[in-house]
Amino acid sequence: MSFLGIDLGTSGLRALLVDESGTPVGSAQREYGVSNPRPGWSEQDPADWIIALDGAVAELRSQFPEFAALKGIGVAGHMHGATLLDVSGQVLRPCILWNDVRSEKEAALLDGANRVREVSGNIVFPGFTAPKLSWVRNNEPEIFAKIDKVLLPAAFLNYYLTGDYVADKSDSSGTSWLDVGKRNWSDYLLNAGQMRLDQMPRLVEGSERAGTLRSDLAAQWGVGRDVVVAGGAGDNAAAACGIGALDEGAGFVSLGTSGVILVARKRYAASPDAAVHTFCHAVPGHWYQMGVMLSATDSLNWLSRITGKPPADLTFALGKKLQPPGTVRFFPYLSGERTPHNDSQIRGGFTGLSTGTTTKDLTRAVLEGVAFGLRDSFQALQSTGVNIQGLMAIGGGSASIYWLKQIATVLDIPLLVPSGREFGAALGAARLGLLATTDSALSDVLTAPDISETIAPETRLSAAMEDAYGAFRNAYSGLRQIQ
Ligand code: XUL
Repeated sequence: MSFLGIDLGTSGLRALLVDESGTPVGSAQREYGVSNPRPGWSEQDPADWIIALDGAVAELRSQFPEFAALKGIGVAGHMHGATLLDVSGQVLRPCILWNDVRSEKEAALLDGANRVREVSGNIVFPGFTAPKLSWVRNNEPEIFAKIDKVLLPAAFLNYYLTGDYVADKSDSSGTSWLDVGKRNWSDYLLNAGQMRLDQMPRLVEGSERAGTLRSDLAAQWGVGRDVVVAGGAGDNAAAACGIGALDEGAGFVSLGTSGVILVARKRYAASPDAAVHTFCHAVPGHWYQMGVMLSATDSLNWLSRITGKPPADLTFALGKKLQPPGTVRFFPYLSGERTPHNDSQIRGGFTGLSTGTTTKDLTRAVLEGVAFGLRDSFQALQSTGVNIQGLMAIGGGSASIYWLKQIATVLDIPLLVPSGREFGAALGAARLGLLATTDSALSDVLTAPDISETIAPETRLSAAMEDAYGAFRNAYSGLRQIQ
């Protein structure tokens, strides 16, 4: 038996094949772009996701004979995106992504509406799905009138795979249409967003069976006709499944395009005023909370683009030893910020530049600025009363040990580096596929990886980092004023 985990990411799709014990067999990846037709807009053509999936599957098939024994699939997707379909299942416009901030006005209106925070458990951030639909209603009424279904990116792949409109509850938590405590669509919230229940996909838990692979795809892929597709998950919940973060306070810091600190929660305890996200986990009876910064590796990638140096070269140049905070400060608000500011207008900035400032200084400032942004999220999470003892470090940016030292010191907690290469959303998604197909126990499948290294806070720099963080935090309102 084999299982496929699909991670539909912002910059590309990763498909991971695992065996019945959940051990990775092989993976394939395809990249695609994000289009920014206007400042603050961020879109993708869902057709590109399908091309990426077909390509990745073809590669896995040709390289790994185990693919023919495929029994279950799970999809993890970048969250909040609005994929709009007409009555014949055709995509009506490009998907508006999680880091698109065009619907700021609409979000503020919904967020201020009576009981919306209370029922959804969350601020209505501009990146969430409901305000995107309000924007489409206000600006593209002819498209809005044709909407038969709204699917999140992972649910769109579920639709491609099964032919059925079905979504999981972890991803659906980020729509502002779900009653996150009750784990079901809320008539009240749908009404507030002027949407209808029949425009929503059927809901299942992430580890539940959503359907079976379409027979024409099964034939094309050379697999049996009984391949189960799980509900799947939003990418963050899937990544939590990939590292076995289910117990209260277990979690990760993820350095992806966005920067996320996620902790699992045993009970539903929303805390919207702290600007943390409180969402259903991908398995029944569990929730999680997270703080989200919009530009983590995105900040480093931006510096890489303007300096013409690969991100790994930029971080490598800093050496191994963590430096005290520099005089240059970076504010990582390239796409605005969610936690803790809920501010889609703010943009990034450097301060403290001099004629002597080098690329190395800028890199150091970018890594520090992202670490300080994560500290904002960390504090917001701590304000909910959760006890966080340590966090696993995941995501592309965690390849830089320098960056991890920086973050461990700024957060003042140890960061655990998982060993092996597979522990992210693709593995979590494959595990959900396995759980939906077999009768395995959650605790046998959602295990924690071995740890190859523990990055401890560097206490010699704690006081200096604390001061620099204080300055960073205080500078926000000044930065706001001059923009
Ligand atoms: C979470 C969020 C991002 C995306 C990135 O709320 O918007 O982390 O899921 O893929």
